Amino acid sequence: MDACDIRARVEELIGFLIGAVRTGNVYGRDHNLTKDAIDKLYSSLRAALSDREEITIGIIGDEVAFEKMPFYEISKNMGKFILQLKTMKIEKISFLQNCEKRELAVFINALAGSIKHHGKDSGIEKALEAGTVKNILVGTIGFGKEPEEPASEINARAQTNASFQEGIDFLKQTLDDISNNRPVNIRAARFVINKIVGSLLKNMHSLLMLISLKKHDEYTFVHSLNVAIFTLVQAEALGLPEGLLTDIGIAALLHDIGKLSVEADIIKKSGKLNQEEIEKMHLHPIAGAEILLETPDVPLVAAVSTFEHHMKYDMQGYPARLYGDKLNLASMMIAIADAYDAMRTKRSYHEAFAAEKVYEEMIKSSGKNFHPDLLDIFFKRIGIYPPGTLVELDDNAVGLVVKANIVDTKRPQVEMLYNSKGEEEKETYIINLLEKDETTKEYKRAIVKSIPISDKHNIPAKYKTE
Ligand SMILES: [Fe+2]
Ligand SMILES: [Fe+2]
Repeated sequence: MDACDIRARVEELIGFLIGAVRTGNVYGRDHNLTKDAIDKLYSSLRAALSDREEITIGIIGDEVAFEKMPFYEISKNMGKFILQLKTMKIEKISFLQNCEKRELAVFINALAGSIKHHGKDSGIEKALEAGTVKNILVGTIGFGKEPEEPASEINARAQTNASFQEGIDFLKQTLDDISNNRPVNIRAARFVINKIVGSLLKNMHSLLMLISLKKHDEYTFVHSLNVAIFTLVQAEALGLPEGLLTDIGIAALLHDIGKLSVEADIIKKSGKLNQEEIEKMHLHPIAGAEILLETPDVPLVAAVSTFEHHMKYDMQGYPARLYGDKLNLASMMIAIADAYDAMRTKRSYHEAFAAEKVYEEMIKSSGKNFHPDLLDIFFKRIGIYPPGTLVELDDNAVGLVVKANIVDTKRPQVEMLYNSKGEEEKETYIINLLEKDETTKEYKRAIVKSIPISDKHNIPAKYKTE
């Protein structure tokens, strides 16, 4: 389906959506006309979702929009409806692939009911939760804040970047929810993770590249998101079914949620923690599991792996093991992702380790801290020098790793940026380090070491993210 087709389908969908809400509002939920209107809306939604994972319609200013492109024509006749949505603090509505007709009916009736009461105390989120609606999300974060850009320019990379940003927004919201004693919004977590899984299945390398190249100062949020991505890389490599990937992704995203109940001074402290502080810090897996056990709809695996994510493969770690002799698979994957992200990032108490150093250190702990097979799978997938790493080759030329090669973790594909004299390549080109010389049968080139990216390096604009 091309961009025009999908816009036409979404336009039709919006028409049916308004029709169904109006009918529900006038005739009530049990009337045949309301049921008919929901039927029509449902078939229109199925058509729009035929080749995509989700449809999100949003409000930009006074216009209703899809993928940040407003529908000026239909918006003209929707003024009242848009206003009603805004009163209910709804700026975007997302329909996910698995949305059932039953969920649509709960949603339409909640919307119609709320409009009847002029959006006061709309309680729409509650109504959706009570009706166990998992595949429709309403929210305020998103469209309003982002700059508008034409749909045609939203390529895979931009979509990957957008899912990452939504992940950060979700985590910020979660922090706010917990500090205000509101439950964690698991439906929103599911939504974020489904998008990340989508990006991962379509374009893992650009997702990994994003992790390496993204500049950030919000360590805690970015760390949780990176851990989710590095965990999903392993889960995907194991061939786990998509539904399970989502649950494991949610688990990874929330693994450090217990840190919210550790004193902020300890979390923010630069330099080493004293014994008392360490003991308090070590309570975060227990606190996290407690929060998750109290949160509705949390996959059990999230509570279990949050509890276990600092336990080690050889039974060491914390909290002290009181049961069983095996960790949950998700816990072991999260432990690898967690350690990897912590080492590759600059922290107040250590510099960022070079990619090869992280690899070396983690391999040393294989079978002790980490499950050996999982660790092996992880590095096969991302390589010793993951996408986004700047590397120096044996002829002094410098390039950016763009893709891992599963057959040899130290021989990825590299986009060449500087030649052996240190001059910038006018036209960058990609080489595959698996390539051999035909006569000597030796590899043509090899990586000598990774180098930290600095301001003096000119990274191609297409890889840059803000
Ligand atoms: Fe942790
Ligand atoms: Fe962590």
